[in-house]
Amino acid sequence: MNIVITDDYSSLSTYVAKQIVTTIKNNKHTVLGLPTGGTPEGMYKELVKMYNHGEVDFSSVKTFNLDEYIGLSKEHSQSYYYYMKRNLFNHVNLKRENVHVPYSNTKNMQVTCEEYEREIDYAGGIDLMILGIGLNGHIGFNEPGSSATDTTRIVDLDESTIVANSRYFSSLKDVPKKGITIGIKTILKSKKIILIASGLNKSQIISEVLENEPTSKIPATYLKLHPNVQLVLDKDASSNLD
Ligand code: F6R
Repeated sequence: MNIVITDDYSSLSTYVAKQIVTTIKNNKHTVLGLPTGGTPEGMYKELVKMYNHGEVDFSSVKTFNLDEYIGLSKEHSQSYYYYMKRNLFNHVNLKRENVHVPYSNTKNMQVTCEEYEREIDYAGGIDLMILGIGLNGHIGFNEPGSSATDTTRIVDLDESTIVANSRYFSSLKDVPKKGITIGIKTILKSKKIILIASGLNKSQIISEVLENEPTSKIPATYLKLHPNVQLVLDKDASSNLD
């Protein structure tokens, strides 16, 4: 893993946004894998700013989000689809038919999961996958216990994820208990992966990821099986490293 340490959250966000823009400049048909959550919000703001300055054209770009809650409608203010509209889709020239967020409200979820995998393959695979990391080492909704052979599927959210995400809901009981997520295998098929982490509360899990061999106990350690992974941290998130 290649580690980049930036001064602060703002420089982390700019650094990653610039990498995305460079990737798109080199290949206008870039396929992006995208996360939600608090960490990438600055990166999305930066991308929108660069788009408004005419520095990037998303018209041929395709995006695939990592995950979505089960049980929230697309228009729910905390659905990941809504998050993506609020943070990116509504502000840049991505074509509606080119953006994909796992859809969680179908009757046959097994078919939905298989279709999502097929759609990624049909798009030519993900060129650049951006990941955040949970306090328990999850990537996407691949919680501890996930395996390197997992593809898109329905999962139970870890108690710690439900607690961490409750900051966006009016109460703990409103947080969905299940999600749909692309799998570790799907993530590892990406051509390049950037994992971003910011803040002191991520410093412990970041050092654990770096210290451990790939293990289902810390799903982000599976990224060590990939030849082209960059870990982009701010100083706080890197503060447990030697
Ligand atoms: C969300 C996702 C999650 C988050 C992780 C960190 O789409 O993939 O794995 O990246 O829970 O979330 P934040 O950035 O809010 O700490």
